[in-house]
Amino acid sequence: MKTIITYGTFDLFHVGHVNLLQRAKALGDRLIVGVSTDEFNLNEKGKTTIVPFEHRVTVLQSCRHVDLVVPEQSWRQKVDDIQKYQVDIFVMGDDWSGKFDDLKTFSEVVYLPRTKNISSTALKQAMAVLSQLHQELN
Ligand code: CTP
Repeated sequence: MKTIITYGTFDLFHVGHVNLLQRAKALGDRLIVGVSTDEFNLNEKGKTTIVPFEHRVTVLQSCRHVDLVVPEQSWRQKVDDIQKYQVDIFVMGDDWSGKFDDLKTFSEVVYLPRTKNISSTALKQAMAVLSQLHQELN
């Protein structure tokens, strides 16, 4: 039984997220996803989300690649989670390359290639452009 863990905000759930989760799950048997809470996003990552935490959790729970969803509330919890859930592989997209290498003492660390040309930020920007266009036309 190989356990994988990954973390993220997963706002406006998109195909880049699905690809990451699918590839992460394919590395083992059980995939745990740590979802950043709204407070953690705001206070630590400087991000505001469109979709609230509870809804992001529900969406991830309904994804067939995901076995368990837990809240991500601090940067420090990763070591605790790895030990608590007996994690074998810690996975992140390669935008985080090298950033979590210190976890190699506790588990294998894998950075997977990101899906090109899609992100929550890009979707938010597209929504803002459409909304501005709509205002200009009305
Ligand atoms: N991810 C990915 N490919 C993408 C977008 C995200 O593989 N095109 C991965 C990230 O590398 C991370 C996980 O999905 O491991 C969750 O990323 P998250 O930050 O929630 O998604 P982004 O779309 O990158 O969000 P933002 O634009 O707010 O940074």
